[in-house]
Amino acid sequence: MANAPIPREAVRKMAPYNPPLEGRGEMLRLDFNENVSGCSPKVLEVLREHPTRGFLATYPEYAAARRKLAAHLGVNASQVTVGAGTDEVISGVLHAYVDPGDEVIVLKPSFAMFAFYTQLVGGTPRFVPYRTPELTFPLEEVLESIGPRTRAVCIASPNNPTAGIVSKAELESILAAADGCAVLVDEAYFDFHGETMIGLLPRWPNLFVARTFSKAYGMAGLRIGVMVSQADNVAVVRKGQSPYGVNSLAVRCALAAIEDKLYVREYVRQVLQARQLLCSAFDEMKVRYWPSHANFVLFELGGHIDRVRSSLAGQGILIRDQSAHVPGTARVTVGPLQETVRFLAALKEALAR
Ligand SMILES: Cc1ncc(COP(=O)(O)O)c(C=O)c1O
Repeated sequence: MANAPIPREAVRKMAPYNPPLEGRGEMLRLDFNENVSGCSPKVLEVLREHPTRGFLATYPEYAAARRKLAAHLGVNASQVTVGAGTDEVISGVLHAYVDPGDEVIVLKPSFAMFAFYTQLVGGTPRFVPYRTPELTFPLEEVLESIGPRTRAVCIASPNNPTAGIVSKAELESILAAADGCAVLVDEAYFDFHGETMIGLLPRWPNLFVARTFSKAYGMAGLRIGVMVSQADNVAVVRKGQSPYGVNSLAVRCALAAIEDKLYVREYVRQVLQARQLLCSAFDEMKVRYWPSHANFVLFELGGHIDRVRSSLAGQGILIRDQSAHVPGTARVTVGPLQETVRFLAALKEALAR
């Protein structure tokens, strides 16, 4: 009988990452920062019209899409690559620049996939904690952590789950210090914040910026993300990507989504309005929260987390426990006003029990 194959050491050392994604369909999903209303009707039109037999039988083509995405982002087509979600472009950047034994600077807490892919390539995440209690960006600590083994720095701005940002000046001092390293800024929540680092690309050959269609555009199930950098870097990252990694429907839908600017603008307007209402309600309820630049808010429930979370689940509402990262906290996605009002009523009821 043959022996089982021996997993790579990097994989053996990784803990499985199983976010609670199952059985959420019927609930009010305020746990993964998705668009609570869903995608533009223009995207649904594409889904209705395109799945002909010929279309589905043909491998996807990206050239025209890269041109349109480039125009949308204000860069050249040679500066764009697409991936099956931001996840896949994060993976692409880390696979391209990080060798086993290298270090990647990862903020803590931040998006789990930065450390995940660092470990998968055999690198070591060098965690730099956000400054407590305000959870502000730890610029000096990041700068001090950059050393000869650093090959990449991963920053989400706005950051998940803290919802804070890195400023342009802070990022530029990191770009200057991380000479020869890939500095990846994940702008998954850009639409809710409105400021991008893409304008810095001509000046910084070590900058990479990622965007997703999973959040404001409401297309998390379709899996498409974009990464932009200087053209030479994009060519390097693309060498390590599958030539047909993003499915053709996702590509068509992304193009329909960026054309429907009004839809996203209106959704963002509703979220920002609801976020204001949520934060005012937290103030009134004396619930501590951290200022948000995204479509979610991190808030503190202390020892009541489990009780409140299960009471909300009983009322059909999901939020995400963050107490493993910031003790006593949970993260709630902000959707339109109606969903936020429903969440607040349920929270009040849960706290009163
Ligand atoms: C900072 C950040 N980046 C990326 C993603 C996921 O993006 P995608 O669905 O495009 O892989 C998330 C999702 O939670 C996130 O918080």
